[in-house]
Amino acid sequence: MNMTAKTMTHLLEPIETASIDELRHVQLERMRWSLMHAYENVPFYRQSFDAAGVHPRELNSLADLAKFPFTLKSDLRDNYPFNMFAVPMRDIVRLHASSGTTGKPTVVGYTQNDIDTWANVVARSLRAAGAHAGDLVHVAYGYGLFTGGLGAHYGAERLGCTVIPMSGGQTEKQVQLIRDFNPDVIMVTPSYMLNLADEMERQGIDPHKLKLRLGVFGAEPWTGTMRTELENRLGIDAMDIYGLSEVMGPGVGMECRESKDGPTLWEDLFYPEIIDPATGEVLPDGEYGELVFTSLTKEALPIIRYRTRDLTRLLPGTARPMRRIDKITGRSDDMLIIRGVNVFPTQIEEQILRVAELSAHYEIVVSRDGNLDQVEVKVELKPDAAGIGEDGTARVVKELSHHIKSYIGISTRISVNAPGTLARSEGKARHVTDLRRKP
Ligand code: DLL
Repeated sequence: MNMTAKTMTHLLEPIETASIDELRHVQLERMRWSLMHAYENVPFYRQSFDAAGVHPRELNSLADLAKFPFTLKSDLRDNYPFNMFAVPMRDIVRLHASSGTTGKPTVVGYTQNDIDTWANVVARSLRAAGAHAGDLVHVAYGYGLFTGGLGAHYGAERLGCTVIPMSGGQTEKQVQLIRDFNPDVIMVTPSYMLNLADEMERQGIDPHKLKLRLGVFGAEPWTGTMRTELENRLGIDAMDIYGLSEVMGPGVGMECRESKDGPTLWEDLFYPEIIDPATGEVLPDGEYGELVFTSLTKEALPIIRYRTRDLTRLLPGTARPMRRIDKITGRSDDMLIIRGVNVFPTQIEEQILRVAELSAHYEIVVSRDGNLDQVEVKVELKPDAAGIGEDGTARVVKELSHHIKSYIGISTRISVNAPGTLARSEGKARHVTDLRRKP
C-alpha cells in the first residue's frame, strides 16, 4: 500500500483536521472538566488550588489556566504511591512507574477509559508516522513498569498491526528475530537502535536488504544529525515520538511523515504551555522554555500544569492544525554547567556526528580539578576507521575539540576508543557521568 498524504486524510480522526477554533472550544470544555475532576477528587489539588485562591469555576478561557498552580514531580513523590489518583482503586486497571535517579519512583495509574484513550492516541501517532494496519511492528521499548513497551504495544494493536513484543535487551536475539520475522516498523530508543545496527553489522546483515521502513524513536533526546545517521545507515524513515509517564506515556506527540518537523502535540488530549523555568511566567509560542502539560480527559490521574523539565518551544501546526514542539534540547536536569557555559549532551552529540570517522556512541565525563570544571568526551571509531593510526587519531581529536570549542564554547579532552568498546544502551542512554555531583 503506497498512500500519499492526500489520500490518507480520510483516515484521520476528525479532531486531527478540526479548525483551530473548534480545537480551542473542545480544549476549553475538557479543561473545565479536568480541573473540576482534579479539585473534587484529589485532596492535593483541592489544597493547592485553595492555597492559590482559585476555583475551577473561574476558568473562563484557556488563558485563565495560568492562574492555577503548577504540579511538580516532587508532588507525585510526596503523594506516593496512590494519593494522586482521582478514582477508587477498583477502577484502576493498570499501574506504571518511572524510576527516578533518586528515591521513590513516580507511580501513575489508568482507568479502562484511560487505557483506551492511550491506545487510540498511539495508534494515531503510528498512523501519522506512516504505519498502517497490516504492518509487522517490532517493539524493543522495555515492557514492564516503563510505559514504553506496553504503550507502544496497545497502540500498534489498535491500529491493526501485528506486534512482536520483544522488549529491551537480548541484543543478539533481537537482531536474529528482526532478520527472521522481517518487520516493517521498529519502535525503540534511538540509542538502542544504534546498538542494534552495530549488532546487525556484526552478524553480517545488511539493513538495507530488510523490509524495515520506519523507526519510531523516542524516550530520550536525539538530534537531527542522529536522524540522518540512523536513516542512512538503516534505509528507513526515523520519526520522533514524545511522551512521559506522568502525562500518559509514549504518544503525547508524534512527528508526521508529511513534514518530519518535530512532534505534533495531540492537543485535544494534552494542553501544552511553555513557561520561563525561572519565573513560571507563560511565554508566547515560538519562545524557548519549559514544557508544561494539563491533561484534558484523564480519569485516574488528572495532571494539572505539570512541569516536565523538558526544554523546547511551541511551533505552529504544519501537517496538522495542532501545534508542534521543536526537538527537545534536553531536560533542565541534564543541563551541564561547564565553567559557566550551559551545555546539553545533545549539542556534543551533534558535533561528534560531524566527524566522519566517529560512531554515534559517546560518553561525557565531567569532573573538577581544583576550581576548574574538566570535561572528557569519550568517543569511538567506526569499524571502517579502526586502522587510522596515531596520526589519524590525532586529527580526529583536533577536529572534534575544535568543533566543540567553536560551536559550544568549551574546551574538552577527547579520548578516542576502538570500535565496540564504549558501553551500549539497551533503553534510555546514559551519556553523562558528572563526578562533581558525587559527595
Ligand atoms: O520515556 C515515554 C516514552 C516511551 C516516550 C517511548 C517515547 C517513547 P518517561 O520514562 O516518563 O516516559 O520519560 C519521559 O523522557 O520528559 C523527556 O525528558 C524524555 N523523552 C521522551 N520522549 C522524548 C523525545 C517515556 N522524543 C521523559 N525526545 C520526557 C526527547 C524525550 N526526550
